Amino acid sequence: MPTHILVTYASCTGSTVGVADAIGRALTEHGAIVEVRPMAQVAGIPAYDAVVAGSAIQGKAWLPEATAWVRSHQTDLRQKPFAAFLVCLTLAMKNKAQVEQARPMVADWMSPVRALVPTRSEGCFPGVLDLAKIPSWRDRMGFRISTLMGVWDEGDFRDWDAIQAWGGELADLLLPQPV
Ligand SMILES: Cc1cc2nc3c(=O)[nH]c(=O)nc-3n(C[C@H](O)[C@H](O)[C@H](O)COP(=O)(O)O)c2cc1C
Repeated sequence: MPTHILVTYASCTGSTVGVADAIGRALTEHGAIVEVRPMAQVAGIPAYDAVVAGSAIQGKAWLPEATAWVRSHQTDLRQKPFAAFLVCLTLAMKNKAQVEQARPMVADWMSPVRALVPTRSEGCFPGVLDLAKIPSWRDRMGFRISTLMGVWDEGDFRDWDAIQAWGGELADLLLPQPV
C-alpha cells in the first residue's frame, strides 16, 4: 500500500509554498502519495500516514497560526511520523560566518513545535526577501534598512538542492522501509 503523506505549510509572503512543493516532489519521487496544502485548508489528518509541517519565520518564531494548527492537531499528530521545517532570512545573511553562528539559534525556533509533537527530522531553510510583498510598511521599512546596512540582499535564497536532499532523507524516515 502506498504511504499517504500530508505536507502542510503556513506562509505570509509566499516563499514557504515553494519549499513545501519541493519537499512534496521529493517524497513523491520516493514513492509516496503526497498532498501539499496550506494548513488553513486541512480539515483533519486521520487519513494520512505521516505529516510534514512547515512555516515561515516571523519574529524568531513559526507564524502563530502554524503553531496553533499543530497544537490543535497534536493528539492525532503524536500518533504519526511527523517532521517539521522553517523558512527564514537569518540563514540568508551575507556574512556566512554569522550564518554558521546563528544555526543553533535558528534550530531552536523549532522548540515550541517539538514540545507539542516529537519530530523525526527538522529542516531549516533560507527563504526570500521581497520587500514589495511585506504587508506592513513598518516591517518593510525595517527590512529595507537592514538591506542598506548590508545584513542581506533582496532576493530568493531558497536552496533547492538542500530542500530536495532533506525531502529525500524524509522519505527514509517517514515511509515504511522494505525488510
Ligand atoms: C514581518 C516579518 C518578520 C520576519 N521575522 C524574521 C525573523 O525574526 N527571523 C528571520 O530569520 N526571518 C524573518 N523574516 C523573514 C521571513 O522568514 C522570510 O522572508 C521567509 O522567506 C518568509 O516566508 P513566506 O514568504 O512564506 O512568508 C520575517 C519576515 C517578515 C515579513
